[in-house]
Amino acid sequence: MQHIDKYSTSVRFLHWLMAILFAVIIVIGFVMVEFKESKPWGLYELHKSLGVLVFGLLFLRLLMRAVSKAPPLPADTALIAKLVAHGTVAFMYICMIMMPISGYLLSNSAGFPVKFFGIELPVLLAKNPELAEKIGELHEMGGWIFVGLITLHILGVIAHHLRGFEVLRRIT
Ligand code: HEM
Repeated sequence: MQHIDKYSTSVRFLHWLMAILFAVIIVIGFVMVEFKESKPWGLYELHKSLGVLVFGLLFLRLLMRAVSKAPPLPADTALIAKLVAHGTVAFMYICMIMMPISGYLLSNSAGFPVKFFGIELPVLLAKNPELAEKIGELHEMGGWIFVGLITLHILGVIAHHLRGFEVLRRIT
């Protein structure tokens, strides 16, 4: 059997926990906006609480990544494939940082304090509907960019498997 170097246990655990959370957050995000007419405020609360949670988990993950080395891709991986793989992940990290921050500021500027599972968090921005509209557009665009990057990331896994490198075993 092919020998595969794995990521550390904590990075593997956080990868899947965050993958599930992001999937849920994104689906809830699009659904709640689509059905805004029926005032799905419970979904808004859940979207925001999970968004704040995943932002906290991100710092834990970055810390774990910093203290444990990522296993390298096989030496014969084409440079372009390495660039696409690492570039996709780098932009995903940017989205993971920007989405919760823009969401938080969107909520505040729209006039709503953010609650983390019922606990009210500090208001960082005064109500400003015009600004809320702009941040809302950024948050929506970021959501679509994130979906695109996740798709690329999954296509990358499939491409590696097709050439016989079971990359999924590194992270499971
Ligand atoms: C953690 C990553 C997050 C992702 C991937 C994400 C993604 C999304 C997506 C895809 C939408 C739908 C956009 C649309 O169709 O207009 C949305 C809407 C929204 N998100 Fe997030 N979000 C995240 C975090 C947050 C956080 C932390 C907050 C607030 C604390 C937040 C607040 C909002 C609000 C208020 C809306 C609704 C905007 C509207 O009613 O037009 N989001 N989000």
